[in-house]
Amino acid sequence: EKGGHDYFMLKEIEEQPTAIADTLRGHLVDGRIVLDEQRLTDQDLRDVDKVFVVACGTAYHSGLLAKYAIEHWTRLPVEIEVASEFRYRDPVLDRSTLVVAISQSGETADTLEALRHAKEQKARVLAICNTNGAQIPRESDAVIYTHAGPEIGVAATKTFTAQVAANYLVGLALAQARGTKYPDEVVREFHELEAAPKAVETVLESLGEARALGQLLADSKAVLFLGRHVGYPVALEGALKLKELAYMHAEAFAAGELKHGPIALIEPGLPVIVVMPSPKGRAVLHSKLLSNIQEIKARGARTVVLAEAGDETVKPFADHLFELPPISTLLQPLVATVPLQVIAAEIARARGYDVDKPRNLAKSVTVE
Ligand code: F6R
Repeated sequence: EKGGHDYFMLKEIEEQPTAIADTLRGHLVDGRIVLDEQRLTDQDLRDVDKVFVVACGTAYHSGLLAKYAIEHWTRLPVEIEVASEFRYRDPVLDRSTLVVAISQSGETADTLEALRHAKEQKARVLAICNTNGAQIPRESDAVIYTHAGPEIGVAATKTFTAQVAANYLVGLALAQARGTKYPDEVVREFHELEAAPKAVETVLESLGEARALGQLLADSKAVLFLGRHVGYPVALEGALKLKELAYMHAEAFAAGELKHGPIALIEPGLPVIVVMPSPKGRAVLHSKLLSNIQEIKARGARTVVLAEAGDETVKPFADHLFELPPISTLLQPLVATVPLQVIAAEIARARGYDVDKPRNLAKSVTVE
């Protein structure tokens, strides 16, 4: 059943190229992005003047990435918040606000209530969901289904990368409706997204290396994660996987926050996993992160660096290096998250835990 794998999660990690490809399939028709079920008119989409993303846990991390992509492509302001906070506040919404509710199960109580809270204030709601006909898509004005297939492992893996792809579709649909990108640019971005599964396959070829890294780190007391820009949500997701699977203290920081406190945590031997941006992307992001690695290395951290293949600059400061295939900045999370999923699962396995059924967790959180 686990397809010859030690645990389901590994099988599901390997299904990510398919999950992303299946999620994108059918969304480009005659050069236009289309959603699955839509009770929103083009005019409704054009009238959107603010986007609010709500979700929990891993889905929330995918939503953080939505903010980078949607703001970049549409110039619309995007806010993102965990559903359990959003629903008890008085967020400022009206009929031109688009609320994107992201939920694998489509039944998460807080996300559902956040959606209802938004609808009471006349906001439009678009769901991103992996479960056909679940409550969240039923109560939404529009849906994009992630076609990741059923996820057996309690920890979300393939549904996360599929959610990222779906979030980017929302960004492209908005850019198209609002005309912030020319139609051919939208198509080009879509095709780039369509090429991402190939890059994920390349990462999966190094699965053995990621597993070995996990075994090396299995005795650690804690692991820190650092990222900047889209690497920051990746770091958060890596830390969450490690907490839930390996019951290990794991924390992620925006790399720029190091000097504002977290650097005090660095002590000799402490593993710090760093998500390095491409040297071909924004130079400032790369150079800032490089100096962050030097700072923590100088204080004795054991650095585990995820960097683009061929990036020589990181080598002197990386105790362990995991190479990522080259890919555009916004898409890098699709490849960078994969080794972190594997490392977390492998640490859990090395510690003797049930990777597919971590303690205290349920697949669908229908109570608050
Ligand atoms: C983490 C995980 C949870 C879920 C969260 C939201 O691996 O699985 O953090 O992401 O409970 O669940 P859904 O997406 O079903 O709303």
